[in-house]
Amino acid sequence: MGLFHEMLGDNESLFKNEEALDYEFVPKLLPYREQQQKHIARCIAPLLQGRQGENLFIHGAPGIGKTAALKWVLRDLEEETEEVVPVYINCWRYNTSYKIILELCHEMGYRFTQNKNTGELFNILKERCNKSKGVVLCFDEVDKLEDYDFLYLLCEEIYKKSIFLITNYKSWLLELDERIKSRLNSEMLEFKPYTKEETTGILKERVAYAFVDGIWQDTALALVITQTDEVKDIRAGLYMLKEAGREAEKKASRKILPEHAQTAVLKLKEFHTKKQEDLYDEEQFILNIVKTHSPHKIGDLFKIYQEQGGNGMYKTFQRKITKLAENKFISAQKTSGGIEGNTTIISFETTKKLSDFNDASDAK
Ligand SMILES: Nc1ncnc2c1ncn2[C@@H]1O[C@H](COP(=O)(O)OP(=O)(O)OP(=O)(O)O)[C@@H](O)[C@H]1O
Ligand SMILES: [Mg+2]
Repeated sequence: MGLFHEMLGDNESLFKNEEALDYEFVPKLLPYREQQQKHIARCIAPLLQGRQGENLFIHGAPGIGKTAALKWVLRDLEEETEEVVPVYINCWRYNTSYKIILELCHEMGYRFTQNKNTGELFNILKERCNKSKGVVLCFDEVDKLEDYDFLYLLCEEIYKKSIFLITNYKSWLLELDERIKSRLNSEMLEFKPYTKEETTGILKERVAYAFVDGIWQDTALALVITQTDEVKDIRAGLYMLKEAGREAEKKASRKILPEHAQTAVLKLKEFHTKKQEDLYDEEQFILNIVKTHSPHKIGDLFKIYQEQGGNGMYKTFQRKITKLAENKFISAQKTSGGIEGNTTIISFETTKKLSDFNDASDAK
């Protein structure tokens, strides 16, 4: 009795609005980040009065609302005025000065970019930006940049602007070229991980957006919350909410039960914040070498890299290794003493641990 009543029909769904679990989804309200949003807004505010904006360096661990907070403020700005133009660029996607300037031209409404070099494009951009009342230029994931000459150009040639640089690594910002750093003259804004109460609030709110009312059993949701709090990454929480919902649907259950949440927790182990396919060829090439020879000393890996046709300098190789280590594709362990003296041992990591996302890397 009630057996079939407990099961989902063909065209029934536990999700009310599954898109609300997408990582790009910007919720109507962004609780617990009011202070940071105000700070960002204060940097932009002078532009509205025709004055010079302020720049800001934003840093913090993955999945704790840096991009969301910034986008939220930009959306608010767009609703407020058309005179100050916000532009958001992800440097993982646009990772060279040329690509960024090209994209900025597109964002500023200039389309005839074919066959123009960086200098020509920049002149057009400069004219467009300087004609506006002000521009807000946001560069997210700046540590993925291959070069950052454009920053120097923007500092020098665009008058009314606010520049935001966002990264997981405070060290990247501290080690930025002095010429650029002194020109940007930015304050630092740190995003700290959410507390368990905050994580609970965020996930419960998202459940209300995304799912049909009352279908989450309390213990199942508690499991997802605890796990999210452990890895300190809201994205992991959103992922588990979605997976648990799908699992329950697959089992034709009308409720999301602890067993469905448990399956989602296990799936989390496969979860990678930055996917391997997103790596550039050279990094992928180096990663494969590390994979085949793990664990190995960095100097020896460089030799193998050269033997296999790699033609980067040692410094460049070392930088790529640092980047792979920072993104937890590999680990780099410094050893000292012993017959070898000081060296770094590089190992391939099969699963990235979201929880041990450290600011600095060891592969120096
Ligand atoms: N306070 C919040 N309220 C609601 N949702 C949030 C909040 N903070 C983060 N999120 C959600 O968590 C997810 C991850 O946040 P976001 O993309 O801003 O992380 P991030 O700090 O930029 O991470 P990364 O450094 O990896 O880019 C997003 O889907 C975002 O909407
Ligand atoms: Mg982000």
